[in-house]
Amino acid sequence: MRAIIATLAVVGVMAAGAAWASDNVVSLRGANAIPALNQAPMEYKQATMKKGFKRTFKEQPPLIAHEIENTKKFQINLRANGCLDCHDKSTYEEEDAPMAGKSHYVGDDGKEKDDINMSRYFCTQCHVPQADAKPLVENTFVGNVK
Ligand code: HEC
Ligand code: HEC
Repeated sequence: MRAIIATLAVVGVMAAGAAWASDNVVSLRGANAIPALNQAPMEYKQATMKKGFKRTFKEQPPLIAHEIENTKKFQINLRANGCLDCHDKSTYEEEDAPMAGKSHYVGDDGKEKDDINMSRYFCTQCHVPQADAKPLVENTFVGNVK
């Protein structure tokens, strides 16, 4: 009997917790229904930085040092990869761009290859441009790269 009462008490507390959570958690899109278009929180401009942005932690994929909004030139799809036109091992010298990380050319067997490893094909999965914008939420992160 005692165990049952204790269980009921726990369930009661959990239910109260859930009600509290749904009343208080608000996402950045506010009360907008999922299919409805939301207004962009702010205008921003992608920032350009000669010689690249400083990294904030050692394993960080460097931020893209130029804007990538001109869609044709920076397109990544099954047939074309604009980024590789400038950053590939076979193109970077002519384009005077930094070569994509050496690690990107290591094959699944651990050996260096001429072609980029397909797990690195979608560059923007890891690399993002920097935007000149105020943070949406407070952020106390401090970088550890001197
Ligand atoms: C027209 C050539 C060109 C294209 C296309 C291009 N880049 Fe770049 N990228 C450059 C050059 C040049 C730099 C060096 C800029 C500088 O340091 O002034 C650079 C810098 C970068 C850097 C910074 C590297 C570092 O060490 O700080 C990253 C990351 C990057 N590009 C990623 C990309 C990605 C991802 C794409 C595709 C969405 C792309 N680039 C498309 C020419 C290009
Ligand atoms: C899975 C994540 C990931 C993907 C996908 C990826 N990168 Fe990277 N990239 C990194 C990381 C992490 C680094 C820094 C460490 C290193 O060099 O491996 C880096 C480094 C770089 C650098 C700087 C190299 C240097 O020597 O300083 C360039 C340029 C770059 N990547 C371009 C690209 C391009 C172009 C693509 C797409 C073809 C791409 N990356 C895809 C994670 C990624």
